[in-house]
Amino acid sequence: MKPSPEEAGPKADSRMETLHDIPALRSRLAGWRAAGLRIALVPTMGNLHEGHIALVQTALAGADRVVATVFVNPLQFGPGEDLDSYPRTLAEDARQLQAVGCQLLFAPAEATMYPQGRAGHTQVEVPGLSAELCGASRPGHFRGVTTVVAKLFNLVQPDLAVFGQKDYQQLLLIRRMALDLNMDIEIVGLPTVREADGLAMSSRNAYLTAAERARAPVLFRTLTAVAAAVAAGTSPEQAERDAAQALRTAGFEPDYVSVRRRVDLALPGPADSALVVLAAAHLGRARLIDNLELDRPLPVQG
Ligand code: PAF
Repeated sequence: MKPSPEEAGPKADSRMETLHDIPALRSRLAGWRAAGLRIALVPTMGNLHEGHIALVQTALAGADRVVATVFVNPLQFGPGEDLDSYPRTLAEDARQLQAVGCQLLFAPAEATMYPQGRAGHTQVEVPGLSAELCGASRPGHFRGVTTVVAKLFNLVQPDLAVFGQKDYQQLLLIRRMALDLNMDIEIVGLPTVREADGLAMSSRNAYLTAAERARAPVLFRTLTAVAAAVAAGTSPEQAERDAAQALRTAGFEPDYVSVRRRVDLALPGPADSALVVLAAAHLGRARLIDNLELDRPLPVQG
């Protein structure tokens, strides 16, 4: 049955609606659901770039209606991190979302998401992996991410949700959370969108000075070198050490460079061939993360 215009709400060729409150969001979504429309969610913290727009385009291709969210989630920032200085560009974000055909922008205030305050809010945490890699450098970060994503999943109840693979560990944790909590949502991961020189697009690239920006592609080049070395038979441990040294020489302060199994980010055993190398490194004010998947040929059994 075709939805009535009132039920269906804004279409791709009409103006995008921006909502800040939960009752208005629920009411719009109820209309879409009653009309049998397939709904996609693209959660973001705003300051949108081409990588985010690719997420929205993928969502538009897989659903009748797309809800993008812009919320700088305080729970995922640690003490001394960049919560206060994180770029907030809502008007420009809305312009870009409207231009790409997104139907609804949900941009709640902190008090809407956490009416009782940050402390004491129920938290959602995936055990184990949340404390490794980026979780080791940023304690509590992933608990903040899975908490806010669980809330957004509950609020929007989308059929699918789209995330970038640049945040590889985040994507795995969200998949795991959805599985563990029986959230019937298709989680789509999209390949990282890169600048022409290989730097992964990120809102935090804005923190780089011109000189740092010129050096920043070394991170992706280093991951490419690790992937080639491991594929050629170098041990992951040796390749990680070489990469950390190469990053230091280029002026980065690495948090980690780690070769892991793609499926669960566990340390790889000799029989694992589907791998990913992940890195996080500070360059000036910016903490950059990136990753690259690689397939290691396994020795032929004699
Ligand atoms: O990847 C991000 O931008 C954030 O971690 C997310 C998923 C929007 C949750 O705040």
